[in-house]
Amino acid sequence: MPERLAETLVDLWTPLIILWITLPSCVYTAPMNQAHVLTTGSPLELSRQSEDMRILSRSKRGWVWNQMFVLEEFSGPEPILVGRLHTDLDPGSKKIKYILSGDGAGTIFQINDITGDIHAIKRLDREEKAEYTLTAQAVDFETNKPLEPPSEFIIKVQDINDNAPEFLNGPYHATVPEMSILGTSVTNVTATDADDPVYGNSAKLVYSILEGQPYFSIEPETAIIKTALPNMDREAKEEYLVVIQAKDMGGHSGGLSGTTTLTVTLTDVNDNPPKFAQSLYHFSVPEDVVLGTAIGRVKANDQDIGENAQSSYDIIDGDGTALFEITSDAQAQDGVIRLRKPLDFETKKSYTLKVEAANIHIDPRFSSRGPFKDTATVKIVVEDADEPPVFSSPTYLLEVHENAALNSVIGQVTARDPDITSSPIRFSIDRHTDLERQFNINADDGKITLATPLDRELSVWHNITIIATEIRNHSQISRVPVAIKVLDVNDNAPEFASEYEAFLCENGKPGQVIQTVSAMDKDDPKNGHFFLYSLLPEMVNNPNFTIKKNEDNSLSILAKHNGFNRQKQEVYLLPIVISDSGNPPLSSTSTLTIRVCGCSNDGVVQSCNVEAYVLPIGLSMGALIAILACIILLLVIVVLFVTLRRHKNEPLIIKDDEDVRENIIRYDDEGGGEEDTEAFDIATLQNPDGINGFLPHYRRGFLRGIPENAA
Ligand SMILES: *[C@@H]1O[C@H](CO)[C@@H](O)[C@H](O)[C@H]1NC(C)=O
Ligand SMILES: *[C@@H]1O[C@H](CO)[C@@H](O)[C@H](O)[C@H]1NC(C)=O
Repeated sequence: MPERLAETLVDLWTPLIILWITLPSCVYTAPMNQAHVLTTGSPLELSRQSEDMRILSRSKRGWVWNQMFVLEEFSGPEPILVGRLHTDLDPGSKKIKYILSGDGAGTIFQINDITGDIHAIKRLDREEKAEYTLTAQAVDFETNKPLEPPSEFIIKVQDINDNAPEFLNGPYHATVPEMSILGTSVTNVTATDADDPVYGNSAKLVYSILEGQPYFSIEPETAIIKTALPNMDREAKEEYLVVIQAKDMGGHSGGLSGTTTLTVTLTDVNDNPPKFAQSLYHFSVPEDVVLGTAIGRVKANDQDIGENAQSSYDIIDGDGTALFEITSDAQAQDGVIRLRKPLDFETKKSYTLKVEAANIHIDPRFSSRGPFKDTATVKIVVEDADEPPVFSSPTYLLEVHENAALNSVIGQVTARDPDITSSPIRFSIDRHTDLERQFNINADDGKITLATPLDRELSVWHNITIIATEIRNHSQISRVPVAIKVLDVNDNAPEFASEYEAFLCENGKPGQVIQTVSAMDKDDPKNGHFFLYSLLPEMVNNPNFTIKKNEDNSLSILAKHNGFNRQKQEVYLLPIVISDSGNPPLSSTSTLTIRVCGCSNDGVVQSCNVEAYVLPIGLSMGALIAILACIILLLVIVVLFVTLRRHKNEPLIIKDDEDVRENIIRYDDEGGGEEDTEAFDIATLQNPDGINGFLPHYRRGFLRGIPENAA
């Protein structure tokens, strides 16, 4: 280090010119803010001063030869002398002239080219520009020839305390939890000072509190703000205004100062328990209130805020714990009492509950202050409400036999008004559920009667709705479903399950099953159907066929012998009596038609050749009707023909008086009233075989007669 310094010095000394720097002594001796005492002096004075200064400065701080200093903010009547350039060159014969160039040369700094005195001609501000770099040169006065190379030097503007501290980020806001211990750090603030921080004390700041004591303190150097009182209570005072001052010059008198404000807000901690506003609450509720309805609200106040004020509500005791519940409304911070089960004024008219509110977020620091909960009593009075009738059962199931007599009572519903006033009740049938008006109800006693006959085979269930209405208040209505089941009565006889057509092989063997038939019955007996089959009593000893009942309620028809021959008899009709197991049993006779056919050896029917005259026998009803229609048409033609013949032979007939019927028929032809009808009837009666009587008689006989004849 000393070597380098030496080098620097040599570098500086090498040029012939020496910057003979002088500075007014007052710069170093006077207080900074008294720079104005500096006045201009004669060059001699300055020289002398600079001599003193050099000694003083060297001893005080390392002298830098290429620096000059000038005090900022100087505002005297004359320009301030910054320093003097001087060269060791022998001035002898030549006259030397000093030239200044660089930052501010000529504008801020002026040089006396003969003496080398440099003056600042403008007021300088260190905070604006702290140093100026200039170049000095000595030249021949006459020739302007440089006498040595130019030399660079710096003019430093020297600080005075002309800037007050400033809080650039103020005003400040900070929070600290209430109930904090003394000395809890709140925040820190910072002020800045534009003055030179490395030179003097102009920027040396000291902090203090002007307002806000005794609650807060500030560390003078670090500006850390702390609580100065323990256990400050937010619930007592939430916000504090602190005024902070920063003072430069290390806080000494004469320094400049700046202030700011800090707003400190105490944040909440849970240091207060909930407290019910009332120790007793009264609520009343109508007995018919819908489940879940809010009956009332209870609120425990808590001086804390936010989650520290949150409480959960509970029913901890009382005779209504099963019927009521309480829920916590976090928004309103209260407890809502609701109905959980139906009330009945007629059973119990009031309830008492003990409710508790307990803080949810407990701070263990304060739990020693006691339980963070509170209780209150809630009295609930049940009010009577007009309630609709109540049926003795939620549903009814009635049974009735299908043959029940009209107006017979099927069953009864009962209902009562649960209210104390107990209104009489009237019953009716909801006709939408009984469109056929199958039933009636006695409006007073609820007895249901049969209005129209029942048929189980048509409809087993009649599900109707009965309405009960209070006579005193028609809006009080209840409904109940009534299912009426129609019970079976044996009112249907069994019959063949389908139309059977049996074939009998000519080459069949005795005992062979010709056909198996089964029966059906529309009734529905409890234990299922059991059918009995028999031949007609007069046919029990039928030489041709026999019957055999099977396990499954069906019947087999067997041939008794072989040798059936369709040439001899093509069709056999076998009436079978089927009876059910009802009480009393019902029976009917169904006739099985058995046709004799030619079969192959393995029993496959091949030909049931039928002659024309027996066609109708095995034909269906449709075919029979068609054939009948043909016959009728034929007959009509015959009648027309005969009638025409009669007209032609009229004289003959008139002459012939023997047959009264002929005359009557003629009247008939002419048409004529009651006599005519009478005459017709008489004729028919008198001569059943006559033309008029023939047609209906024939038709009847044909339809009915064939099975009769065959049987
Ligand atoms: C009527 O009610 C009975 C018993 O509830 C039920 O079994 C039946 O299916 C109902 N019938 C009709 C047609 O709704
Ligand atoms: C039995 O069959 C014979 C001819 O094969 C017949 O003459 C007789 O009438 C039949 N008897 C009955 C009861 O059908």
